[in-house]
Amino acid sequence: MRVPMIAGNWKMNTTVGEATELVKAMRAGLDQIANVDKVICPPFISLAVVKELIRGSSIRLGAQNLYFEEKGAYTGEISPLMLADLCEFVIIGHSERRQYFNETGEIVNKKLRAALKVGLKPILCIGEKLEENEARRTEEVVTEQLESSLAGIDSLDGLIIAYEPVWAIGTGKAATGRQVSETIGLILYNIAQLYDEEVAQQMRILYGGSVTADNIAEFVQQSEIDGALVGGASLKANEFLSIVRQTSEIKGHLSR
Ligand code: 13P
Repeated sequence: MRVPMIAGNWKMNTTVGEATELVKAMRAGLDQIANVDKVICPPFISLAVVKELIRGSSIRLGAQNLYFEEKGAYTGEISPLMLADLCEFVIIGHSERRQYFNETGEIVNKKLRAALKVGLKPILCIGEKLEENEARRTEEVVTEQLESSLAGIDSLDGLIIAYEPVWAIGTGKAATGRQVSETIGLILYNIAQLYDEEVAQQMRILYGGSVTADNIAEFVQQSEIDGALVGGASLKANEFLSIVRQTSEIKGHLSR
């Protein structure tokens, strides 16, 4: 059985003080919700503080990025070893990194390998842009992203995939549950081809893109969708709590 997951990607938001306030506002409520992996991904500089604040709770911690080298003269970068000490998950290949920081499939692949090597659980983001979607190239783009990201990686243990269509991120225009389910079917097919049916069956796949407390139900009602990677709505304690709570209630009796 795959445990549902809701992960909050805080992106480049919150000072250390604001991160502290946000965690304090959601800690008790989140801790009470069972049967969902609850992950928060604050900016790097808040990881250590947040780690202390959630100690003893069921809330889990993730980073938003990493560099693929373990240490050395890479000014300003954060290594997998530094993160392995602090958190459990790491978002890799987010479309904002692909778009603004020129992350290619090859770089994403190196980052994935580096994360898996030190036991971090990557949340690999894939998804097509608006023009690709309109040109009906979703299948081709998603397939290519999976193949290049996973090239030469033998074991996907711990890996989670987030399908985030770029046109749905931060736009208020979420995909429909049906659209997402269809693409997840394609992702699963690819995973089964690249690995095997069992790996595909165990793979957790999240949806991301304008998820809110008002639309989360539509996604988690689909048995193929294991949860969500939430951006903007994860910065509001009550809304994030509502998203996690609804997921717990709806997933209580569903399986793929
Ligand atoms: P929004 O929920 O703000 O659309 O962001 C989604 C996202 O990119 C999560 O990684």
